[in-house]
Order: sequence, then C-alpha cells, then structure tokens
Amino acid sequence: MSRTLATKKTAARSKNNGAPARSARSAESVRSLKGLVNVTRQVHFNSAHRLYNPAFSDSWNEEQFGLCTNPHWHGHNYVLEVTVRGEPDDITGYVIDLGELKRVLNETIVKKCDHRNLNEEVDFLRGVIPSTENLVIAFWNEIEPHIKSGKLHSVRLYETPRNFAEYFGHSAS
Ligand code: NI
Repeated sequence: MSRTLATKKTAARSKNNGAPARSARSAESVRSLKGLVNVTRQVHFNSAHRLYNPAFSDSWNEEQFGLCTNPHWHGHNYVLEVTVRGEPDDITGYVIDLGELKRVLNETIVKKCDHRNLNEEVDFLRGVIPSTENLVIAFWNEIEPHIKSGKLHSVRLYETPRNFAEYFGHSAS
C-alpha cells in the first residue's frame, strides 16, 4: 500500500468517529426481501375481575359463572400477545420496531390494567363484562389506532396457560 493511500484512509476514518468511511462500495443498496411477516410482542399483567351481569339476579350469575362471579373478585396472570403483519421495510428490515410495539402495549393496556380491577378501574372497560372474549375486542380497539407500521393482525389473551381468546378485528355480520 502506498503511503498516500494510507494517509487518505486515516483521514476518512477520523471524520466519522473512527468508523470506517463509507466507500462507494459499501454504499451499495441492500437487497430487500418480499413477503408478509407476522411479528409478535408478548406482555404480562395481573388484574382482578369478576364475571357478573347486573341485569340478572345474583343466583342467575352464580349459576352462569360459578366461582368466576365471586363478589370478592379473583385474579389472573394475563399474557397478552399482539401480532402485527406487514412486509419488512426496505431500509430497516423491520415490519414494526418491536420496541415501539412494546411502548404502545405498555401505554394502551399494561399501564391501565396491571394491578387494577378490570370491572371498576379501567375506563375503556366500563360497563363491559371482562371475559377474555370481551377483553381481546376492547384491547384491539385501544391498540389499533397506534399501529403506524404494518397492520394489526391479532390480539391473543391468555387468562390461564390453557385458556385464551384471539381476535382478528372481524365482526360477525
Ligand atoms: Ni376470571
């Protein structure tokens, strides 16, 4: 290597905080791959609730819901999985930045539901029986407006490791 070339290289590095300078070669564009990909973030929260329909008698509620209607509440360790679908971005390779999805889920759901009573303390659940089925629909409605990259594909909520409900944003009619 000639002395002149070595000097040029050093100068180029120092302009860029020591990182190798981008040569014409490294500025070549990356290859973007096409395909629809589902990306999922999982979050956890603990909440109290009871299943109770105030339009019916206590005995009807007990018959319908059993222990789940206990007037002194009971709790669940909920696991929420939210999936966003899209094509990886040409520049980042991301469908959605999972840090951003985590932030959205924390702001819209976890902060409002964790260590709360779902029947009494969560504004967007007011007047709703907090069954897992109703929760996934309510959560979808809260999360969806905040997804700016890709499209919300599914909201899955585990009430226990064996029982979960999943919503894809479709209505029956
Ligand atoms: Ni329950």
